[in-house]
Order: sequence, then C-alpha cells, then structure tokens
Amino acid sequence: MFTPIKDILAGKYENQEVNVRGWIYRTRSSGKLAFVTLRDASGIIQATVAKNDVEEKDFENAKKALIESSVKIFGVVAKDKRAPGGYEIRAKKFELIGKADAFPITEYQSEEFLLDKRHLWIRSRELMNVMKIKASLLKYVREWFNENSFYEVTPPTITPNACEGGTTLFEFNYFDKKAFLSQSAQLYLEALIYSLERVWSLTPSFRAEKSKTRRHLAEYWHLEAEEAWVGNEENMKLQEELISYICQSLAKNNRDELEFFKRKTETLKNIEPPFERIKYEKAVEILKNKDFDLNYGMDFGTKEESALCSDIEKPVFITNFPKTVKPFYMKEADEKTYLCADLLAPEGYGEIIGGSERETDYNKLVERMKKQNMSMKDYEWYIDLRKYGSVQHSGFGLGVERIVRWVCKLEHIRDAIPFPRTINRVYP
Ligand code: 4AD
Ligand code: MG
Repeated sequence: MFTPIKDILAGKYENQEVNVRGWIYRTRSSGKLAFVTLRDASGIIQATVAKNDVEEKDFENAKKALIESSVKIFGVVAKDKRAPGGYEIRAKKFELIGKADAFPITEYQSEEFLLDKRHLWIRSRELMNVMKIKASLLKYVREWFNENSFYEVTPPTITPNACEGGTTLFEFNYFDKKAFLSQSAQLYLEALIYSLERVWSLTPSFRAEKSKTRRHLAEYWHLEAEEAWVGNEENMKLQEELISYICQSLAKNNRDELEFFKRKTETLKNIEPPFERIKYEKAVEILKNKDFDLNYGMDFGTKEESALCSDIEKPVFITNFPKTVKPFYMKEADEKTYLCADLLAPEGYGEIIGGSERETDYNKLVERMKKQNMSMKDYEWYIDLRKYGSVQHSGFGLGVERIVRWVCKLEHIRDAIPFPRTINRVYP
C-alpha cells in the first residue's frame, strides 16, 4: 500500500512506517546523507536517506538520481520543523524505478521553450494546480447540473453547420464532403430539448482565431446548456447560480490551489446572485465616458470588455446587443437588439459566457438566414425544429478555460489547458 503525500503532511502518520512513490522534485546530498524531495499528485515531502540506514546501492542511487526520476521510498514519518511542510520521511529503503536524464527544464526558460516542452512542463507546480482547479470545477459543474435536473448529452463535434458564423471555422474533408469542426453544440442542444427539456454538454469547440490574444484558443472546452420553456431572464438566473456555485465550492474545497495563485477565497465567497445587468446601449455610454472611440452597433473587443469589468467585484451581464454583432439564431428584443447577454468576469478578465433566448419564429429565422447567404440546405434540420411543437427556449455557453484563467489569475489562457492549440502551435 502506498500513502498519498498529502495525508502524511496532514499529520496522520507521525512515527509510523509508510510507503510513498513519486518523482524527485529536488535533491541534494552531503557526505553520508541524501535529501530527496519527492512529489506525487497530492503533494511534496522531503525524505532523508542516511548511508547507514539503507543498502549501499540504494544510497548511491539516492545520491545520484536526477530530478524527475521515479522512486519508491519506505520509511518512518518524523515531525521536523526544518522540513518543508513540517514532516519528513526517514528512509529505510530507497528504490530507483525510472532513472531520469538531465531534465531539460531549469529555472528561467523562455515561454516558447516551455511550450515546446509542454509534455514535461505539465509536471510543474503551476500547471498541476491549474489542472486540479479545473478538475474540481468540472466536478462542481456536474453536481450543479445534476442537482438542477439537467440531462448531460453528447452532441457531435463534426458538423455541416456554422453556429457562430463562418470566419472562424475549421473546414476539413469528410470522406468526399466538406465538414467543419464544431464551434458550439448549441444547435444540437436546441434539438435535444424537445426530448429532454433541460440539457447540457461538455465538448471541445474549435475556433480558427486568426488573432493572437491572451484569451483565445483554437480548441477549448465548451460547457453549454439549453432549456425549454424559459426566456433570457431565467437563462441569466441559471448562469449566475451556476457561476456562484462554482465559486463557493472552490472557496470551500480548493484553498491550497487558490492560495498558490494568490486568489483570495473571500473574493470567491462574495460571488453570489444577483449579478448586475447593463444594457449594451448603456455600456457604450460608459465606454464613451472612458474616452473610447466607438459607436452604437460596434462590437466590444478585449479592451472594451476589460474597461467594463476591471473595477467590479462580481461578474456583470451586458445585455441587449445590437443585431449587427450577434449570430442569426437569437430572439429579437426589439427592432434593433436581441434578447441576449454576455457575462464578463471581474478584474478585467472579460467574457466568460455567451447566452441568449433563441428565435422561434420560422419566418424570421429563414429571412435572416437568407439575408446572410446561409445555405438553407445545410440548416434545413435546424429550422425544421420550428415546425414541430416549437417552444420558447434559451441557453448559454461557458468557456471552461476562460473561467479557469480568471479564477487562477492567469496571464494567458493557454495555461488553463495542458496542451494548448493556438494560431502558431499544434505541438506537442
Ligand atoms: O460567445 P460564444 O461564441 O457563444 C456560443 O458559441 C453560443 N453558441 C453558446 C451557446 O449559447 N450555447 O462562445 C461561448 C463562450 C464564450 O463566452 C467564451 O467563454 C468561450 O465560449 N470562447 C472561447 N474560449 C476560448 N477560446 C476561444 N477562442 C473562445 N471563443 C469563445
Ligand atoms: Mg461571445
């Protein structure tokens, strides 16, 4: 049996014998003593290997093994103030399992080098903590959807349709036809509400983003929900409840990881419904007062969003965008605007959710699609949905890496995903 390091550091094994296994994080030796700091998925602990306590071969290995070698250690747990974490293991056996070559990653490497060595860099404290936050977040999301009677569904990621417009589509040869990698599962979720009413999915979404930004990936994890019988106001309520549940759960259960990123749990605990709602029109005024040069009808870029959300403590909804900047499927609020909302995260992190009520009027939808020169043949199935028992419905899409970036205060979204795909990177 092997003991997770975290449990030893929690003080459960003082003066007891334990078996641990993991990878060498740091190592140094002096004379008859080797100090080997070991990491496993749960934590880091120091082991001391004394020449007189282990077999000669094992002591040589403990002295010589380079960082990232995999090892198994058997020994006694001792409380020791000098050891990082307050406990150390006094080894009785030291078994070298996989000897490591000189690890290519040392301190002060360039970003590009770390990205080239991403398969190794994911062992870093930073990325391990990001991945733990992400795994927890996905667990909380599942809990929340289960609690709220949503069915998880599995829509396709190969599709003949553009959901969010043609400019960021990845096109490929599908046998002898043209197909795309999905930008959003929304259109399929809309079809699924007629069987299950409340549905959600977690899928990769693909966007051929031509610009380099700190918040765009070419492949990201998209969490989407769609609900029958509700309008956009209820849709926003769902979003603020989900986001609050995630923040509360992280604050409660992920203290160590949050601390690593200097994210105060208090900040997350304060995130509770309701979130402020600001109409696009008002947002334009706010931006103009901040000396932005823009007019009604223009979309918000990174800078505009940042300006709207840098001084706020809770996420904020920007609602009622003009039709000119949003896709074809949204329900109109009035002549100029749609019943839609983008949710912006605090501290300038910007959009984390896009959502809307959907157009249910068959004729309006067809008219709009024709105006935008969309192929009616490819979307026939979608408009068909308006013919067989159409109902009011709304939904939203949350960028998982966007929320992780915010929670972990990451400079760049690529660190919210283990193997980022961006405009100039598909390796490793
Ligand atoms: O705002 P978007 O484009 O909305 C949709 O795709 C809707 N069809 C969703 C729906 O209603 N079911 O994308 C939704 C979210 C954004 O708010 C953002 O968080 C994230 O997806 N997102 C990206 N994340 C990382 N990299 C990108 N290139 C992203 N593009 C969008
Ligand atoms: Mg959006």
